[in-house]
Amino acid sequence: MKALEGIKVLDFTHVQSGPTCTQILGWFGADVIKVERPGVGDATRQQLVDVPGADSLYFTMLNHNKRSIELNPKTDAGKEVLTRLIEECDVLVENFAPGALDRMGFPWERIQEINPRIIMASIKGFGPGKYQDCKVYENVAQCAGGSASTTGFRDGPPLVTGAQIGDSGTGLHLCLGIVTALFQREKTGKGQKVSCAMQDSVLNLARVKMRDQQRLQRGPLREYSQYGEGIPFGEAVPRAGNDSGGGQPGRILKCKGWETDPNAYTYFITQAAVWDQVCDVIGAPEWKDADGFRTPAERLDKLNMIFGRIEDWTMTKTKFEVMDICNPLNIPVGPILSMKEISEDEGLYQTGTMVRVDHPERGEYLSVGCPIKLSDSPVEVTRSPLLGEHTTEILSEVLGYSGEDLDRIVGSGAVGKPKEKSAA
Ligand SMILES: CC(C)(COP(=O)(O)OP(=O)(O)OC[C@H]1O[C@@H](n2cnc3c(N)ncnc32)[C@H](O)[C@@H]1OP(=O)(O)O)[C@@H](O)C(=O)NCCC(=O)NCCS
Repeated sequence: MKALEGIKVLDFTHVQSGPTCTQILGWFGADVIKVERPGVGDATRQQLVDVPGADSLYFTMLNHNKRSIELNPKTDAGKEVLTRLIEECDVLVENFAPGALDRMGFPWERIQEINPRIIMASIKGFGPGKYQDCKVYENVAQCAGGSASTTGFRDGPPLVTGAQIGDSGTGLHLCLGIVTALFQREKTGKGQKVSCAMQDSVLNLARVKMRDQQRLQRGPLREYSQYGEGIPFGEAVPRAGNDSGGGQPGRILKCKGWETDPNAYTYFITQAAVWDQVCDVIGAPEWKDADGFRTPAERLDKLNMIFGRIEDWTMTKTKFEVMDICNPLNIPVGPILSMKEISEDEGLYQTGTMVRVDHPERGEYLSVGCPIKLSDSPVEVTRSPLLGEHTTEILSEVLGYSGEDLDRIVGSGAVGKPKEKSAA
């Protein structure tokens, strides 16, 4: 049995943030019914296309374990079908621009009226306030949520990060809200509205930087490299390069081969508890008891020199050798892994974190599997649906349309052109 077996999700999501959320619900066993605009579908199907004529990886990697129904709720027949779907489903998830559902004729009040048990989950760029009507994409959220201003080097511009903390990060937050609301519904029998703003989710992930903003009012941030370098702080949390955020000095250092390999680097933390081991491993045992080196506080103004010496050592080793030598000594290090290296790591396929998926249009492709492992609800990743692949199946099996009634809906044009049968 899967954890969310029996839960039906009306998936009105598109692009990345919403689909991330519903994909997880699908991995946990929910029946996810993705509603898509007839003949068009989720815009990502046709974005960043690498195999002409096939759904893009952008789409396939975010829409596993779902069924697809084409439906235009802006027609009378479409409204009828959507109403039936709302009646049948436990959860409705959407990430339209603000007001889009209202304009379709389905505000929250109406949805609740149709099904008081339904949980309606929404992602918007901003919460209530002056920006509430804005359309928002990933990098806008990273900037508005405080991440960009605190990412990068002090003497460079703000940077966005490759991790999609605005889109996928918000999808994860929403997912937690949904299962929490489902849990509450077990006791109350009532649905509720779950809302996540992308700005809020990014800010939540940048929480430690808000911690530092307040610490800054009481004095300089001593663990930031700029403190040791004698550079004064301004009014806002500065960009800290690759300094570690936890108070233990850390840097990204070159390893053997860095001249030609852009990822021949390691993260290296000079954790106070293993200072002696660090000194021994890099061949500087004299630092263990030297004046000005004994305590973390004493070392702060020498970090550039210390990391320079450590880098002299890491440059003689590959990033994996650094890992192999430092790990048994409890020195925290981490190789900078490229996406190529990760995609070739068979261990990740064995745990299901990476998966190989077959697709009728594009053949086999790689995807990231479910990162959350439940011992009693194993995840089996199935390919994303073709556009409208399950329209007829959902109309008849989920909503009970048949005979003339089914013909009427199909003939109305509200559900696109029906497919004969599901593709293999
Ligand atoms: C992502 C976003 C910027 C995309 O904007 P967009 O491409 O213009 O898409 P919208 O959500 O505005 O929807 C466009 C229209 O398609 C319509 N539409 C969507 N699905 C439809 C369907 N199945 N049938 C008919 N019309 C449909 C909507 O009703 C809307 O029409 P309206 O503007 O006349 O009301 C926007 O949806 C948004 O801000 N979402 C919230 C934040 C978010 O999730 N952002 C990150 C996405 S990864």
